[in-house]
Amino acid sequence: MNNLTDEYTLLCKQLTSLLEGETNFITNLSQFSALVFNSLTEVNWAGFYLMNDDSFLQLGPFQGQVACTKIPIGKGVCGTAAETRQSQLVRDVDQFEGHIACDSRSRSEIVCPVIFNGKLVGVFDVDSPELGRFSEEDRDGIEALVEILVAGTQVVSHGK
Ligand code: SME
Repeated sequence: MNNLTDEYTLLCKQLTSLLEGETNFITNLSQFSALVFNSLTEVNWAGFYLMNDDSFLQLGPFQGQVACTKIPIGKGVCGTAAETRQSQLVRDVDQFEGHIACDSRSRSEIVCPVIFNGKLVGVFDVDSPELGRFSEEDRDGIEALVEILVAGTQVVSHGK
């Protein structure tokens, strides 16, 4: 893992204590969304889309405005992250072919796959009203946070 910024090092510590003694899937994903949403600046949405079956992602725990409930695998930024199992760092959502606009304020976003024991369980999506809000440091930091989440959580009935 790359070196994390001070901001993400602190967030990783906060997440570790937040999840201590709790492994419930919905609880931990909810806490995770709230921590990220309330800690990062210039963020208007943070949350999960979870594998429903092999063809689409279903809206999971999140913070922010109401959002689209289903995203087909391979569609939009979330569907692309799910299909490729690679984080997607999008500087300008208008330049991303097929971007799904749930909140018209979103200008940039980052989406990281969530993988438990080799199974894709879903993706974690963070949106910003600022163009180019997310950097490689954010990607490394959010991936590190997702790793902590996965290590401390028991997955239930999602994934393929
Ligand atoms: N932006 C996403 C859709 C989800 S909302 O932003 C919450 C996408 O294109 O995958």
